[in-house]
Amino acid sequence: ETTDITELLLSRIRDVADYPEPGVMFKDITPLLADPTAFAALTGALAEIAGRTGATKVVGLEARGFILGAPVALRAGLGFIPVRKVGKLPGATLSQAYDLEYGSAEIEVHAEDLSAGDRVLVVDDVLATGGTAEASLELIRRAGAEVAGLAVLMELGFLGGRARLEPALAGAPLKAL
Ligand code: PRP
Repeated sequence: ETTDITELLLSRIRDVADYPEPGVMFKDITPLLADPTAFAALTGALAEIAGRTGATKVVGLEARGFILGAPVALRAGLGFIPVRKVGKLPGATLSQAYDLEYGSAEIEVHAEDLSAGDRVLVVDDVLATGGTAEASLELIRRAGAEVAGLAVLMELGFLGGRARLEPALAGAPLKAL
């Protein structure tokens, strides 16, 4: 069963060479999103993880984490919380900066969306270096909430994101489909 869904999902992810820059192999999930059977299988599997981890809220990471996280939250019967790139949320926010290969980035969440007693599952499409996910876990803890886990469609293992995230996950599961 696990193998079937893995093969279905893999068959709907398109490798695009030299995008967005030379030497990078981009993982394009748009064929998967356009296939309702694959999209339903993906969001169903992620919603199952939300249930298993006892999550009470789903956080999605801009932008592709929104496309996956919102249907996962609905299917799991949970609220959806967007973590956005800085400057996009109108209310009082908590923000977290993190390093990129060159330069830095910053993400934000509405402070009132998370609080003590929440168990949060973070959903995204790709785990690469782990910088974005790490910053999101930081935000969740700073908001006083608990991390239920991190669930992604794909993990690019050669970039070492899983090892980087170990301290931030603090024993919470990291599941890559
Ligand atoms: C991509 C991806 C993850 C993140 C992974 O998003 O969707 O969120 O990068 O990289 P990392 O593990 O090295 O942090 P991107 O920043 O391209 O944003 P987008 O979805 O808005 O295009």
